[in-house]
Amino acid sequence: MFGTNRLLIWLLLASSLALAKEQQPLQDDREKPLPSKSNPDTLPALLDALDVLQANYFEVWQGIWPKAIDWTSAVIGTYLSSALITLSTSYPALSSSKIADNTVNKYFSNLIGAYFGQDAFALRQEAYDDMLWVVLGWLESIKFIHEHSSLHYGTDNESRLAGPWYGEQWVPAFAHRARIFFDMASQGWDTSLCNGGMIWNPNLVPYKNAITNELYIAASISMYLYFPGDDNTSPFGVTTPPTLMIVDGPGRPHHPKYLAAAIEAYKWLGDSNMTDAKGLYVDGYHISGWSRERPKNGSNTRCDARNEMVYTYNQGVLLSGQRGLYQATGARSYLEDGHQLVSDVIAATGWDLKRGKVLEEDKPGHRLGKWRGLGRSGIMEEACDAEGYCSQDGQTFKGIFFHHLTLFCERLPDHLVLPGELFLSKGENDIPGGPREVQKWHDENCARYGPWIKHNARAALSTLDAEGKFGMWWGAPPHSTAEPDVNVELPSKAVDYRNLGVPHEWKNKRRYARETNEDDVHEDDNEGKIRIRDLNDRGRGRTVETQGGGVSVLRAMWELVDTR
Ligand SMILES: *[C@@H]1O[C@H](CO)[C@@H](O)[C@H](O)[C@H]1NC(C)=O
Ligand SMILES: *[C@@H]1O[C@H](CO)[C@@H](O)[C@H](O)[C@H]1NC(C)=O
Ligand SMILES: *[C@@H]1O[C@H](CO)[C@@H](O)[C@H](O)[C@H]1NC(C)=O
Repeated sequence: MFGTNRLLIWLLLASSLALAKEQQPLQDDREKPLPSKSNPDTLPALLDALDVLQANYFEVWQGIWPKAIDWTSAVIGTYLSSALITLSTSYPALSSSKIADNTVNKYFSNLIGAYFGQDAFALRQEAYDDMLWVVLGWLESIKFIHEHSSLHYGTDNESRLAGPWYGEQWVPAFAHRARIFFDMASQGWDTSLCNGGMIWNPNLVPYKNAITNELYIAASISMYLYFPGDDNTSPFGVTTPPTLMIVDGPGRPHHPKYLAAAIEAYKWLGDSNMTDAKGLYVDGYHISGWSRERPKNGSNTRCDARNEMVYTYNQGVLLSGQRGLYQATGARSYLEDGHQLVSDVIAATGWDLKRGKVLEEDKPGHRLGKWRGLGRSGIMEEACDAEGYCSQDGQTFKGIFFHHLTLFCERLPDHLVLPGELFLSKGENDIPGGPREVQKWHDENCARYGPWIKHNARAALSTLDAEGKFGMWWGAPPHSTAEPDVNVELPSKAVDYRNLGVPHEWKNKRRYARETNEDDVHEDDNEGKIRIRDLNDRGRGRTVETQGGGVSVLRAMWELVDTR
């Protein structure tokens, strides 16, 4: 099945691209030409990656990615929605609108399957970050539906097909799922410790980590921007009072409480001292001396025990939050913070952003480049990649970084959603230079990341096996007879609990503590034989999560490099 699909897509694309130059515009207004810079290989590679993701790792009859776990499925579903946005805007690169429609409908029907396949009941018992991935996923699907509908099915223009697009009927369902999960996750905001911040997991001793707080920021601001309201009272009899919603120029509603939550959480994170000397987010904080058994007057409530572990995804999720906060407030400082973070990340992979190339001393040769904190030789890497011990969690991280980088660097809108007198006494006219000026500056900054994104997308493509499956370690030397000399130095006081399991002392004995899934721990293939092997077959090998990473980095390349 995979082979046929893949071949078909290649043929269709090859023929369309060959014809594209001479062809006259087609009948409808969807056929706007793509920028001439676009690389003819990227979109086919992305569609291929997506085809393998859905043909090999998704079960239509169950509506699930069976090997994924709840939170990684939510992330993969988010990539599917984002890929649909890309497909919707890439009609000119596909050989006909009919084929493009069919591809969109195929994956959109997968997404509907995933809505019913999602184990919403189990997710309610999980950690707050697990719930927030769900929120981001369904908001992304709503974004896609509105974009696709207005791009191809608007009712306002006779030259378009009669609208609205049938996908619009799913918006209330997806919005309801997003709201239920946002409401549940919001219970993780806690002011009794550390003056605020989200708690990661109610089943463990209090841990205020970067990911849960970044997700809360990104989800709050996305609720503000994209949540259309919800009048479905199931299961708690609660709705969003429509009177509280602010309606913007194009008629979209926005609830100020979500903006307030995002601003407060951003402020807390900024004050939390969660970045290291390289400017990267460390993982999070425990409260030293905390004990549920002996809550004493005057006992410590400060976030003072820092886990110095650095993961790629902790540098990513905040970016979409920063972009949304700019869109909602017009405060350019959010974008400035984001560009600083991206520059710090790129530097920590051994890439010279000024020159647009790999650091001279890190040029790939026979030896691996020096470990720089988040990679080497310009290629993003998780600390667990080189030794092949990444868990299912760790295997998901790099894709998340590239997904949020893509959201961050998408072209900013010409007009912003500003609450005017209702929330901040700021209007578009108060932005120095206006939104267009910020848009131009933002685009120029994002363009500087292009060569690095391309370098990473190429590295990811180099891990493809004969079945079109991506590996985890993008920087792996292609063939190896021996264990590579990996030389990854973790900071002192770093606990890699996402890949090696949660330490015993983090567990709260009073309540059920989620054990690390047996699958999460790395397995050795004790073959003992010397043979040339693919380093990406070690550990968990190629999985739905590593495939998602491939989709994500290729989409970043297409959206941020090829079509700019
Ligand atoms: C309708 O679509 C055409 C073709 O894209 C465009 O030129 C025109 O401005 C549109 N009209 C309206 C009212 O949106
Ligand atoms: C921030 O955290 C680091 C590492 O724990 C610590 O060395 C530093 O003193 C902290 N800075 C502030 C202002 O608390
Ligand atoms: C804690 O201190 C407050 C005020 O100092 C006092 O009223 C309260 O009884 C104390 N609680 C405990 C559990 O000691």
